[in-house]
Amino acid sequence: MSGLLLEARSRRLPLLCFAIVARGEGVPSYEIRLARAGEEEAICDVCREGFAVSSDGLLTSANIERRAQEYYNPTRVRQEIATAGDEPRWLGYVVAVSEAGGVVGAAGGGISEGTAGNVYVLYLDLALRGQGIGTLLLDFVTEQQKSVGATEQWVSVTEGNNLGIPFYLARGFVVRGRVPYVMADDGTVEAHALRMSRAI
Ligand SMILES: CC(C)(COP(=O)(O)OP(=O)(O)OC[C@H]1O[C@@H](n2cnc3c(N)ncnc32)[C@H](O)[C@@H]1OP(=O)(O)O)[C@@H](O)C(=O)NCCC(=O)NCCS
Repeated sequence: MSGLLLEARSRRLPLLCFAIVARGEGVPSYEIRLARAGEEEAICDVCREGFAVSSDGLLTSANIERRAQEYYNPTRVRQEIATAGDEPRWLGYVVAVSEAGGVVGAAGGGISEGTAGNVYVLYLDLALRGQGIGTLLLDFVTEQQKSVGATEQWVSVTEGNNLGIPFYLARGFVVRGRVPYVMADDGTVEAHALRMSRAI
C-alpha cells in the first residue's frame, strides 16, 4: 500500500505543503516537508557529500571545497530556512526525513522571472539512491513552484554529472544549452553546466 498525503499549510505563500509518504510494508517511509530550524547541519552534511561525490573528476578539489563552504554552510542554510517563501525566488529548503528523524535528502528552489521555476539544490544520501526519494523531493519543489505560477522548470547541472543528469532526463527535462560554470584560476573554463528544463 502506498499513498501521498498532501496538506496545505498556510504561510506567507498560498501553498507550502508537506507530504508524508507511506510506502510498502517493510519499506522505510520518509516525510517530505519544509526544513525546520535546527536541521541546517544535517542539510549541509547531505548536500556537501552529494556535491563532492557528483563533482568528483569534474571540478578541482579546491573548487569543490570552496563552493561547498559557500553554499552549504550552516549559517547560510539557517538563514535560508528562516526566509523560506518570503519571496517567490526562494521557496525554502525541503527535506526528506527518515522515520528516525534523520535528514536523508534536501532540495530547494523558487521562481525567477515570470513563470520559470528553478531547482537550485537536490541531494540525497547516496546510499539511498534509486528508491524514489529524489523524485519525491523534486515533486514537492515542483508543487511549490506551480502554486506561485510556474509553468516550466529549469536546472543547471555540471556537464558530466552522471549522478544527476540521467535523473533529470528520466523526469522529463531536456538539455537546452551549455554555459561556462566554473572558471579556473588562469581564467579558462574549468567546467560547463548544462541548462535543462521541462514543462510543469
Ligand atoms: C539526483 C538524485 C537526487 C536522484 O535521487 P534518487 O532518489 O536516486 O532518484 P529516484 O530514485 O527518484 O529516480 C531515479 C530515476 O532516474 C533514473 N536514472 C537513470 N540513471 C540514473 C542515475 N545514474 N542516477 C540517478 N537516476 C538515474 C532512474 O531510472 C529513475 O527513473 P525511473 O523512476 O523512471 O525509473 C540522487 O541520485 C543524487 O543525490 N545524486 C547525486 C547528487 C546530484 O547529482 N544532484 C543533482 C545536482 S543538480
